Amino acid sequence: MRRTVALAFSGGLDTSVCVNWLQEKYDADVVTVTLDLGQRDDMGLIEKRSRLIGAKNHYTIDAKDEFLRDYVNPAIMANALYEGKYPLSTALGRPLIGKKLVEVAEREGADAVAHGCTGKGNDQVRIDVTVRAMNPKLQVIAPVREWNMSRDEEILYAQRKGIPIKPSKSIFSVDQNLWGRSAESGPLENPATEPPESAFEWTVAPEEAPDEPGYLEIEFREGIPSRVNGRSMEPLKLVSYVNQFAGSHGVGRIDHMEDRLVGIKSREVYECPAATAIIEAHRDLEKLVLTRHELNFKAQVEREWAWLVYSGLWLEPLRTALDRFISATQDRVTGSVRLKLYKGSMRVVGRASEYSIYDLGLATYGRGSKFDQMSAVGFIELWGLQSRVAASLNSRVEEKQEIGHPRTKAKAAE
Ligand code: ARG
Repeated sequence: MRRTVALAFSGGLDTSVCVNWLQEKYDADVVTVTLDLGQRDDMGLIEKRSRLIGAKNHYTIDAKDEFLRDYVNPAIMANALYEGKYPLSTALGRPLIGKKLVEVAEREGADAVAHGCTGKGNDQVRIDVTVRAMNPKLQVIAPVREWNMSRDEEILYAQRKGIPIKPSKSIFSVDQNLWGRSAESGPLENPATEPPESAFEWTVAPEEAPDEPGYLEIEFREGIPSRVNGRSMEPLKLVSYVNQFAGSHGVGRIDHMEDRLVGIKSREVYECPAATAIIEAHRDLEKLVLTRHELNFKAQVEREWAWLVYSGLWLEPLRTALDRFISATQDRVTGSVRLKLYKGSMRVVGRASEYSIYDLGLATYGRGSKFDQMSAVGFIELWGLQSRVAASLNSRVEEKQEIGHPRTKAKAAE
């Protein structure tokens, strides 16, 4: 009996060649699966292409709401930026693709899933780990990892096999979803040179942005953005609105020297207008409403969270546990933050919350301060206690160094 393989299908060159390759090398029927994660592709066209190439069946899955609810929202609450910069847009989408591949494979009676990731990146890890954790019986096939063809060889292969592809004019390898757009390869591979304008699609060049600043007022309810510029919006609408608004001011371009999981350093160029604006606003609101102890500890948790997600361990129980902690900190993260956007720059210029820990009566240098300055004296006495005692011992330490500690003595004799 011919086996069935469920293939994650984008409609591009790689995954188009994959269909034929799986049919021939693995003697398999191929069922293609395309997720709509808000990547702005024509889903109807992708489905047509799949049928044309000879897939046995095709699934178009609108996963935008699930992606926002279960992947993007936790990332917002975690202020998730890998290495302090990358909002994890691609990284968040992969485990969901893995999950849907497993669902389709089980439904279609497939014994394997396949994807078009190379052996050099993070995406293979993210999908493979997810699939194998969800259903260890499924084999994972990554043709691109196996065949080792260059892009030109792939085009040749496609021509030989009569696979109807029109190789895109883009010199960049692009991945997009509603949380961001990533571009790699071509001229971007030289980290010393500025990315050409053609690498960008979601943002205008800061030089071309409007001469008037724009304001984004983002309101959060328990850590999740709910209204923008006074209008309450569905999550999907809200993210598209912020993407468009911030992008029109040239905000959201990220040029990042990134450490891939497999050890390669790579130069990545991202456009993440909504992610950049929303995370900046969210983080600022937290600074208003969380205690310094919460903030300090949460920063460590955020780093770990971003690392787990980046490195393909979405299903790791630690990630779920960290999410529970993060979620517990969000009860008071309700309020609004005002961002000022101007020619590629973005600044928080105001914030307010009913749970604000900021107390004007305590902070003011003006009249009517409630803070008893004399209480600082006793506080300082105790705060510096150990430092004082340690400093008083310095004279002894110096004495010992003059005589020569056994360890320093031995060193000197060498
Ligand atoms: N470096 C990013 C990540 O690992 C993005 C990779 C996206 N892939 C691409 N073909 N552009 O998440």
